[in-house]
Amino acid sequence: MKSVNRKYYLFLQKISKTMSKKEYAPLLPIELRNKIKEYRAKGYKIPPLRIIRSEEQIAGIRESAKINTALLDYISENIREGITTQDIDDMVYEFTTSHGAIPAPLHYEGYPKSCCVSRNEIVCHGIPSKKEFLRNGDIVNVDVSTIYNRYFSDASRMFMIGEVSEECKRLVKVTKECLEIGIATAQPWARMGDVGAAIQEHAEKNGYSVVRELCGHGCGVKFHEPPEVLHYGKRGTEELIIPGMTFTIEPMINMGKKEIFIEDNDWTVVTKDLKPSAQWEHQILITETGNEILTY
Ligand code: MF3
Ligand code: CO
Repeated sequence: MKSVNRKYYLFLQKISKTMSKKEYAPLLPIELRNKIKEYRAKGYKIPPLRIIRSEEQIAGIRESAKINTALLDYISENIREGITTQDIDDMVYEFTTSHGAIPAPLHYEGYPKSCCVSRNEIVCHGIPSKKEFLRNGDIVNVDVSTIYNRYFSDASRMFMIGEVSEECKRLVKVTKECLEIGIATAQPWARMGDVGAAIQEHAEKNGYSVVRELCGHGCGVKFHEPPEVLHYGKRGTEELIIPGMTFTIEPMINMGKKEIFIEDNDWTVVTKDLKPSAQWEHQILITETGNEILTY
């Protein structure tokens, strides 16, 4: 039935940890290494160089991301009122494994399902359940992550079920804009703080708040790796953004206050004021001239 070979999964996790910084750093072109050196000398915060991808790694991450995107397209064609969040999880598991891939969330730090489905006041990490039905008026985030040939990809989208209130529609739209503005700001040699500041400004300008407790992350060789991608912050702070980095941007934007709590299952994050929250996520590659969305 629904179980991936846990040993195999843990094996994948382990081999993805075997490359040391020393093994990666010499692969970087000399011009890039020199440029990073200059920034380091000027006191910039530099992320670990092992997260700068080789061409081979980029090709692998791209393939993984293609499956992840096709999966989200498949979900968008099939999501509808009346199905359960477990039905979505079943679709994710079947689609992923039938493409020779593994759902990254399954067994990840004890997570029990293949994806996260987060409705309305659930900020993220909603655990699929047979008892939870999609209802008219819901706004729902489906967050999927794929391991393919050892490489990781991660993205999420919002879906609107039936007739959704104008205020929820606006939340979903502005949250998507927050992601787009974050992506536009994630330029080579900019700073992670620039990205957070741009997202926070757009959310707050629209009367919303940014969840602080969760962030985007490096992703590709492992599920979660450096840097942390905060969705709030100050320009000119945090890590330098370097060509070859692959990371997610995944703002969680609340209609009400930014505070959250975690349910008794130790996973599910919910707004404290129980007002709706939205999230969109892409994984991007920083290039020499800009960036590329890997999960389109
Ligand atoms: N996709 C989520 C992320 O952005 C992770 C959820 S998987 C879980 O990191 F296992 F951590 F729930
Ligand atoms: Co993520």
